[in-house]
Amino acid sequence: MPSFATPPVLPQVIGFDTATGAVTPVGRMIACRVTDLVGLCADETARRYMAEAGDPVVYEVVSSRVPETSGELPQSVTTIHPGTIGGEFHFTRGHMHTRARGEVYLGLTGTGGLLTFDGRRAVWVAMAPGTIGYIPPGWAHRSVNTGDEPYRFLAVYPGDAGHDHAWVAENGMGHRVMRGASGEPELAPFPRPAAGSR
Ligand SMILES: [Fe+2]
Repeated sequence: MPSFATPPVLPQVIGFDTATGAVTPVGRMIACRVTDLVGLCADETARRYMAEAGDPVVYEVVSSRVPETSGELPQSVTTIHPGTIGGEFHFTRGHMHTRARGEVYLGLTGTGGLLTFDGRRAVWVAMAPGTIGYIPPGWAHRSVNTGDEPYRFLAVYPGDAGHDHAWVAENGMGHRVMRGASGEPELAPFPRPAAGSR
C-alpha cells in the first residue's frame, strides 16, 4: 500500500453524453456569455452590441466532481457554440496555470483549436474529434471554435494547476483567430487586448 494519504474520492465511472456534453454526476457548471468577455475581444464595439442584443451564451463548461486539489486529475467538458464576435471566432476566456502544470485536451465534436501563448511565442494547435492536444507548463491557453458546429472537448488537468485569467487580460494571447473572407480561420497577430476595452 502506498504511503501517501488517499483523498476521499473513490474510483468511479463518470458518465458522459457525447451528443449533449452532459457529465454525470456533474460538479461545477459555467455558462459564459458575450457580457463576460468584456476586455477580451478584438472588436469591443461589436461585443457590446451583441451583449445588448440578446447576450448569447458563447461557451459552457461542465466539470465532474473530482476536486481541484493536489494529486487529483479533475476533468471538464467544454462546448463552444459556433459564431463570431466582430469576425473573431468564439473563444474561451483563456488562462495561465498558476503553477507549472501541463494539461491534456481531447477533441470530441466539431472543429476548433487551442491558441497557446508563453508571453513571447504563440502556437496554434488544431483540434478535431479524436485529436489529443497537449499544453506544456507555462503556456496560456484559449480554445476557439473555427467551425459551424458546436466544438466540444474534454480537458484533464492537475488539481493544483490553478487558473489565472488575469494573466490573459493583461498579456493577451499573442494572436487572434479571425474568420477570413472564405470563412476559413486566419491567425492574426494581436499582442494586447483592444485599447480602451478594459
Ligand atoms: Fe488549463
